[in-house]
Amino acid sequence: RRPVTLPDLALAKAEGRPVVMVTAYDFPSARAAEEAGVDVVLVGDSGAMTVLGLPSTVGVEVEEMLVLARAVRRGLAAPLLVCDLPFGSYEASDAQAVTTAVRFVKEAGADAVKLEGGSITPLSRVRAILAAGIPVMGHVGLTPQTATALGGYRAQGRDAVTARRIMDEALALQQAGCFSVVLEAVPSQLTELLAPRLDDTLVIGIGAGPATDGQVLVFHDLLGIREGRGARFVQRYADLQDAMTAGVRAYAEDVRARRYPGPEHGYSMSADQLSALRD
Ligand code: KIV
Ligand code: NA
Repeated sequence: RRPVTLPDLALAKAEGRPVVMVTAYDFPSARAAEEAGVDVVLVGDSGAMTVLGLPSTVGVEVEEMLVLARAVRRGLAAPLLVCDLPFGSYEASDAQAVTTAVRFVKEAGADAVKLEGGSITPLSRVRAILAAGIPVMGHVGLTPQTATALGGYRAQGRDAVTARRIMDEALALQQAGCFSVVLEAVPSQLTELLAPRLDDTLVIGIGAGPATDGQVLVFHDLLGIREGRGARFVQRYADLQDAMTAGVRAYAEDVRARRYPGPEHGYSMSADQLSALRD
């Protein structure tokens, strides 16, 4: 497969072929995305929770995101690589946003960056990053970095006033030049009304219903690498947390019962060398 480009994604939208996006945070998750043939890989700041064990996305540092992003880059050849700008790394000024975005491109090989918000985050941030030559993906609806201000991790835009605001934000992000916008946890009817007005930007949904150009899920959610069920929009395709626990438990039992290691796991020495050793 040759690398996925922005024109490839625009063509998929024009032809009505759904775009597949998934998050990744390390080399093996990147390899899985590569081998499965996904189109876009996101090093999401959800990694704060999925792989770093933080209680929310707000605490993750740029340096930590860069470590994850570099590992993902090493595992990818074809998918477009998008990196989340973490909370606190782009809010202060356009200059700060550009500096952070440039780091993800130079130090981790990102193809594009993603940032949250359309009203909280000034559109000048998007324009400044674009002016530096870096494609930008927007993210509206449930924006976890500002979840406290939104009243928690809950669906957004279920009333007409909030729905209107989310629609305006998405349209403004399109207008500012985002090549794509993520809609998270909004009513499917809102997406149906909004998506036809987003002709110039790739609409990626997560908990936003089927009326999008593509879908994204968190790697650890779709593979069940977690405790508990997660949001209603998650479809689970495996139960890898349970599989990991079962595997480690079986290993522990084998060690305690002296079933492991067996003869087949050991190295040996020639009889000559052994007798020389015994002398
Ligand atoms: O961080 C993340 O995983 C995301 C996706 C859910 C879009 O922002
Ligand atoms: Na994110």
